[in-house]
Amino acid sequence: MPAVPVVRHVDDATVAQVAALADHAAAVDGYRFLSDHLWLDLASGGELLAAAVPGSDHLVAYAQASPASGGWTIEATVHPEHRRADDGLLAGVVQAVLDAVRHEGGGRVTWWTHDVSTNEISLAEKLGLTADRDLLQMRRQLPTGLPVMVDTRSFRPGADEQALLDVNNRAFAQHHEQGGWLLDTLQRRVRQAWFDPDGIRLHERDGRLAAFCWTKLHDAATGGVAVGEIYVIAVDPDFQGLGLGKQLTLAGLESIEQRGVTAAMLYVDGANTAAVGMYERLGFSRARHDRAFGTILPP
Ligand SMILES: CC(C)(COP(=O)(O)OP(=O)(O)OC[C@H]1O[C@@H](n2cnc3c(N)ncnc32)[C@H](O)[C@@H]1OP(=O)(O)O)[C@@H](O)C(=O)NCCC(=O)NCCS
Repeated sequence: MPAVPVVRHVDDATVAQVAALADHAAAVDGYRFLSDHLWLDLASGGELLAAAVPGSDHLVAYAQASPASGGWTIEATVHPEHRRADDGLLAGVVQAVLDAVRHEGGGRVTWWTHDVSTNEISLAEKLGLTADRDLLQMRRQLPTGLPVMVDTRSFRPGADEQALLDVNNRAFAQHHEQGGWLLDTLQRRVRQAWFDPDGIRLHERDGRLAAFCWTKLHDAATGGVAVGEIYVIAVDPDFQGLGLGKQLTLAGLESIEQRGVTAAMLYVDGANTAAVGMYERLGFSRARHDRAFGTILPP
C-alpha cells in the first residue's frame, strides 16, 4: 500500500466523514473508536496528526495522533466492510501517523486498541510497539439494591471547577491521561451536549471537596441500550480508604438510574487492583479488554 498522507488539521468535510466512520464502526463493534480526548481535538480543530484513506463515498481507514502529557496518543480503525486480517489498511494508517510523530521530533507514543485482536497484537509487534497498559470495561445492571450512605450534591458550573480539578489531579497524580488536567481540559467537557451538572456527584468533608463521581449517559447505539458510564471517580488522597470510593460509585449509579438508564459501565486500568476489586464487589463484571501499545520514537 502506498504511504498515506498525514495532515495537521482536518477540514469540516473530513471531520464529518470521520464521525460517519465512527458511527458505522460503532454499530458493528458496539463501541466508538475515538475516545473523548481525540474526538474533542478533531471536532474543535485542535493540534493533531491524521491519516485518512478515502473511499468512493466514505473513509476506508483513519488514524489520529493527539498530543497527550508530553507524548502522543493514537487511535485507528478500518471501515467494517474493508476489514481483512491481511489488507494492510490498519498498518498503513498507523505507520503513517508514527512516521509523522517521528517527523515532529518523536517522543512517547501510545496506540490504544479496543477489544484487542490478534491482528493488532501482531501489527504492534511489527511496528516495534510493546504492550504497556490494559484497560478493562466493566458492566452491571441497575438498580444495585445497595443504599447510598453519604450526602452528595450536584456540580455548580462557575463555582466548583477548581475544587474538582484539585481533587482530580491529586487522585490521578500518577496517571498520564487523567492527571494534570487544566481548567480548559474540564471546560471542553462541560461544553459538550451530554454534560449534566446533576450527573457529577460531589461529597464534601471538613469544609472541602473530598471526592466526586462524574457520570456520562450514552445514547443507545443501533440495536443496543442506553448506558450510563462512571466517567471519572476520584477520592482525594487525604480521604482514601474511608469507604468514599464505594459510596461515591453508588451515588453515581443512583444518579444514572434516576435518569432512566438501567445499564452501567466504566473503564478501569487493569493494574488498578484496588479499583477493579472495588467494582467487582459492587457487582461489576469484565466486558471488554482494551490494550495500549507504546514506545519512545526517536526524532
Ligand atoms: C479507587 C478509589 C476511587 C477508591 O476510593 P477509596 O475511598 O480509597 O476506597 P474505599 O475506601 O471506598 O474502598 C473500597 C474498597 O476497596 C478496597 N481498597 C481501597 N484501597 C485499596 C488499596 N489501596 N488496595 C486494596 N484494596 C483497597 C477497600 O478495602 C474496599 O473494599 P471493600 O469493597 O471490601 O469494602 C480511590 O483510591 C482513588 O480515587 N484512586 C485514584 C483515582 C482512581 O484510581 N480512580 C478509579 C479509576 S477507575
